Amino acid sequence: MRIRLVTNNPHKLAEVSQILAPYGIEVERLGAEKVEVQHDDVAEIAKKAAENLCVRYGDYVVVEDTGLYIEALGGFPGPYADYVYRTIGLSGVLKLLEGVANRRAVFRCAAALCLGGRVEVFLGEVRGTIAQVPRGTGGFGYDPIFEPEGLGRTYAELGDDVKNKISHRAQAFSKLATWLTTTASKRA
Ligand code: IMP
Repeated sequence: MRIRLVTNNPHKLAEVSQILAPYGIEVERLGAEKVEVQHDDVAEIAKKAAENLCVRYGDYVVVEDTGLYIEALGGFPGPYADYVYRTIGLSGVLKLLEGVANRRAVFRCAAALCLGGRVEVFLGEVRGTIAQVPRGTGGFGYDPIFEPEGLGRTYAELGDDVKNKISHRAQAFSKLATWLTTTASKRA
């Protein structure tokens, strides 16, 4: 089985490939233009983008959207995580949190799959804290400043093998894989 992941991010492609490999699902990149609606909820953003692309590209297309919600900042940057990363970057986010004791944050990932003219959305969520300074060399994006709860290390310090077992993306795509393999075997 093969899905077509709509992304321009090689890290996401590599992560999803690693997460889905044990299920026997291959991942191909689909370089399509995503229409992103404005919404606080990544599930809505991924769903609407998928609905659009399903019509053009058909079954097994998957749209993924991720947001980082920082509690002390009222959920900022949330679904605008990409824009914030490209503009103020990690140092800008850390500056906003200078002297702030509440470092709680949540990573949310939504994976929206087109199959049989429908869109199914799968969610993953990891609670954690924002580190005082970036730590670690693995991963991408906010990984050096995000510490999943109870692990005492950032995603970037944990490395790909651990991250891809526990992450927000791992949860969403494992649910997708389980659903897909069950549904596909019922159809066969
Ligand atoms: P998007 O889902 O591509 O819009 O990602 C939003 C932003 O969050 C981008 O700047 C990514 O670099 C960042 N991001 C997405 N997923 C992760 C992750 O797993 N770890 C760290 N940063 C991430």
